[in-house]
Amino acid sequence: MKKNKSIYIETYGCQMNFSDSEIVASILTADGYEITKEIKLADIIFVNTCSIREHAEERVRKRLQFFRSLRKKSPDLVIGLLGCMAERTKVALMEEEQLLDLIAGPDAYRHLPQLLEQVGTGQPAIDTILSVDETYADITPVRLDSNGISSFISIMRGCENYCSYCVVPSARGQERSRNAATIVNETRDLFEKGYREVTLLGQNVNSYQWSAGGETVNFAMLLERVALVNPLMRIRFATSHPKDLSEELLHTLARHPNLCKAIHLPVQSGSNHMLDLMNRKYTREDYLNRIQNIRQILPGCSISTDIIAGFCDETEEDHLETLALMETVGYDAAFMFKYSERPQTLAADTLKDNVPEETKERRLREIIALQQKLSLANNQQEVGKIVEVLIEGKSKRSDSQYFGRTSQNKVVVFTKADSWPGDYIPVKITRTTSATLLGEFANPDMQ
Ligand code: 5AD
Ligand code: SF4
Repeated sequence: MKKNKSIYIETYGCQMNFSDSEIVASILTADGYEITKEIKLADIIFVNTCSIREHAEERVRKRLQFFRSLRKKSPDLVIGLLGCMAERTKVALMEEEQLLDLIAGPDAYRHLPQLLEQVGTGQPAIDTILSVDETYADITPVRLDSNGISSFISIMRGCENYCSYCVVPSARGQERSRNAATIVNETRDLFEKGYREVTLLGQNVNSYQWSAGGETVNFAMLLERVALVNPLMRIRFATSHPKDLSEELLHTLARHPNLCKAIHLPVQSGSNHMLDLMNRKYTREDYLNRIQNIRQILPGCSISTDIIAGFCDETEEDHLETLALMETVGYDAAFMFKYSERPQTLAADTLKDNVPEETKERRLREIIALQQKLSLANNQQEVGKIVEVLIEGKSKRSDSQYFGRTSQNKVVVFTKADSWPGDYIPVKITRTTSATLLGEFANPDMQ
């Protein structure tokens, strides 16, 4: 395939996937391809997919059908599928439905240049082999859709927790951590380019571990090194597994003001019976102890979570325990889902997806309604306070307003002052909704 061709990359799913698309863009631009933001200009379309929930897979299929329809006008258009759906759907999508020319799994991105050369030669352009050591450590991602202020760095890949509902261990393979020095260098490089916030990403960042030259770096140590790059660089991370969140980590967060005071700690359910069936390896009591630790060591830290409604065998009492736990913790935010059975998971093999759809939906609605109430109550406590905001850009609604975030990851919209994206400014919170704080530049001289 000739170079100077344009590639359009569409990404679904989590931040890890967005970060992977940036790695793909880097590998391909180094090989002479160009990245375009316009589908119309594309010679090659890549869809970077997610299989975590059924819904995500359905959306991808619909998109692929649309892309295939574009081939009527441009017969040479190449359509490729990347990411989590690669392994499981390759036979159906490539051979049976003929929707695709190329398939590359999450550990095969270095082979994309060769795979693209193979398209149209009669050799199948497929590589879904998972690796035990690929971390793309040496690749500097090409930042896509970036606001120039906040960015992501993948610090590890894969997962071996085998939560029974989750497709990630089979789709993304064994857990492996990336060389710590490359993470620190990438952070420094981002800072020098003007970025002021970076999120360190992994399925389970708390089990990060990198050994070299007789020295082992754990996640708390890595965070410390990244924090020291520059005090003006804010650091976030996701996702933490409750079983691995150490006190050492909390003390590290307390020591560095630029380590953001926001912890995403997915609970999934408040019922011990569900947690056991989900293979989460902690109890409700263990989880609440962790929360107490956070509250003690990091007062004012925000806590968010993930919750699944209607997992296998979930009774009304189990569900009520989830609602009660949400109240006890008083989450600032939550991602809430209804359970959808995924192939090649422990739950699909050993449990029955036996909660009726209407019940799942009703429980999810109750969870969402409660979270809205909790988010609003938390945000209301901010009204009247002056908070430090990192400005990310213009507000979508009005040119005369900026938006940014607090260390606690709360979105703030406020009237523009004499300041720019990338600046840290004090904002007085005047009003709030359950999703957004509203405020005004607080001129310290006027206080
Ligand atoms: N069904 C519903 N939600 C799921 N998640 C993962 N797998 C499933 C599934 N099969 C949710 C979990 C996880 C988040 C990323 O997605 O809450 O933390
Ligand atoms: Fe999936 Fe559990 Fe690993 Fe998260 S920790 S990716 S939910 S298996």
